[in-house]
Amino acid sequence: MSEIYVKEAAFDSAPILEAKDLVRTYRAKDRVIKAIDHVSVSLMPGRILGIVGESGSGKSTLIRHIACLEQPDAGRLFFRGEEYTGKTAAYAGRHMQMIFQDSQSSFDPKMRFDKSLREARKGQNDPELLKRLLEEVRLDESFLSRFPRSLSGGQCQRMSIVRAVYSGAEVLLCDEATSALDVASQALVIELLQELKETHGISMIFVSHDLGVVSQLCDEIMVMKNGRCVERGSSADVINRPKDEYTRQLLDAVMEVGTETGLHGIKDEPAILHEVTERDLS
Ligand SMILES: Nc1ncnc2c1ncn2[C@@H]1O[C@H](COP(=O)(O)OP(=O)(O)OP(=O)(O)O)[C@@H](O)[C@H]1O
Ligand SMILES: [Mg+2]
Repeated sequence: MSEIYVKEAAFDSAPILEAKDLVRTYRAKDRVIKAIDHVSVSLMPGRILGIVGESGSGKSTLIRHIACLEQPDAGRLFFRGEEYTGKTAAYAGRHMQMIFQDSQSSFDPKMRFDKSLREARKGQNDPELLKRLLEEVRLDESFLSRFPRSLSGGQCQRMSIVRAVYSGAEVLLCDEATSALDVASQALVIELLQELKETHGISMIFVSHDLGVVSQLCDEIMVMKNGRCVERGSSADVINRPKDEYTRQLLDAVMEVGTETGLHGIKDEPAILHEVTERDLS
């Protein structure tokens, strides 16, 4: 059995991933942008943390720093309690993998998927695991001999999820992973991510501007504005009892404009907004 099926019980009460007090400032010609302004993140094993906020609020910058694609001005990063601040993206990539909006461009266009996946696994092939993962994301094994451009956006996104899990990553960092997909593909990817969490104990940070998607998928939600975290809590608390005025505005915007996915009631909680959503947005 592959190691990714084994959950270490000893770690379960501690965060798998932590970012402490991260700061990143960009200097453009005439201005200074505080893209991340003292932000901390704590992700528990087997949980999905949603990060929402308007465009430019710092969501992508935050997860790029967590993945060591960029280095912060200040702050510290920990994986399973071990500090990895200042490490390379390749080092972070052993533990966590990014899933991007445009998954097609994250694959080498000249490489068939079987080779891309072998490389992601660093040559340590596990055909049984690969077969199982493909089945789990509803992709036929014949897709392995195809090139990225021959797949639809949704199929390619599912292949990128397979690659991430097959690589051995325990954390997925999803940046608008469903935003470019149509409603049906989006719903499928969300269902698959939920299943991966349950079957493999994979933990995730799921960045999205769509509160509807986030409310459906995530256990916890963090709301960002101007590089800062303005609210965090269980999805139920943030959706049903928002404390911050900005969170309320985001919720109101979903109610007024509607999203393709709508706003979903949160498990274990009276679905106050769900009722309103169904009435108002259907
Ligand atoms: N490399 C960079 N150089 C200069 N400014 C940057 C750079 N990367 C990001 N920024 C700025 O940092 C801020 C946060 O950007 P970021 O991409 O993290 O926002 P976001 O929340 O992901 O937005 P969106 O929802 O549009 O993807 C923005 O003001 C952006 O212009
Ligand atoms: Mg972004």
